[in-house]
Amino acid sequence: MDITGNTIFIPGATSGIGLALALSLREKGNEVIIGGRRTERLAQITRDHPGIHAVEINTTRPDSIGAAADRILAEHPDLNVLVTMAGIMQVEDWTTPQGFLTSAEQTVTTNLLGPVRLIAAFIDHLQTRPDATIMAVSSGLAFTPLKATPSYNATKAAIHQLSESLRLQFSDTPVGILELVPPSVATDLMPGHRESSFAMPLDEFIAEVVQLIESQPDATEIQVERVKFLRYSEARGDYADTVAALNRADPHGK
Ligand SMILES: NC(=O)c1ccc[n+]([C@@H]2O[C@H](COP(=O)([O-])OP(=O)(O)OC[C@H]3O[C@@H](n4cnc5c(N)ncnc54)[C@H](OP(=O)(O)O)[C@@H]3O)[C@@H](O)[C@H]2O)c1
Repeated sequence: MDITGNTIFIPGATSGIGLALALSLREKGNEVIIGGRRTERLAQITRDHPGIHAVEINTTRPDSIGAAADRILAEHPDLNVLVTMAGIMQVEDWTTPQGFLTSAEQTVTTNLLGPVRLIAAFIDHLQTRPDATIMAVSSGLAFTPLKATPSYNATKAAIHQLSESLRLQFSDTPVGILELVPPSVATDLMPGHRESSFAMPLDEFIAEVVQLIESQPDATEIQVERVKFLRYSEARGDYADTVAALNRADPHGK
């Protein structure tokens, strides 16, 4: 993906990684449309950052995805990048159905069905563009699991394998599939996460991501140095030790 000259929709950009990435990509010379459910945040961000566009979207609802896609494609026919950023992460206890079922359904609907439905809404259009990208957002936890968040880990592993598969299906088309694999980054994804001493500062993460996109326009995965510990545990042959170290360090662990 080129770092500049794109028109980019980021559903899941009212806070955290999505918002910081949106602002950085705007600075790099891209048209950027942010999305999310919190309309007051969308309004505030567009007031604070003239030139950023905003669309309300709830990625758990097909009707909302459809309405947002119709509006974006009417107002921004040059759209060529979709970043499926919206996601949730919740602590679960799978030893009792009350401990996980509602959370698991919400997590699958947001983290996996959301990107699937977003791709369905935009894929016909993206294939008409000379150079298009779908950026999917997985996690280091797709590769090394955190005990406290089974559904989250599973949906992110699914996003990794979906990205791998779609890259094969779209190899003869103008659509590239780029997977962003964040490590723990200091955001409000979970209570206390922003203050975690294990989380990478958001500004450092985004600076490294933008530098990687800029220096490796043909990359298939964006991996900052901090995620390689989790990303390559199995390949290195120290998977069990990495799982143990991650879960010893986790403030949500039990
Ligand atoms: N922070 C980390 O450590 C980390 C690590 C690996 C991967 N990630 C991934 O990075 C992505 C962004 O997370 P973050 O850390 O930046 O957390 P965040 O600050 O909580 O951001 C989550 C974003 O997703 C949006 N969102 C959630 N549910 C939505 C829905 N149903 N419809 C539309 N938007 C929705 C939120 O917007 P509204 O609430 O306004 O709808 C918000 O903009 C997620 O996919 C997460 O899994 C994060």
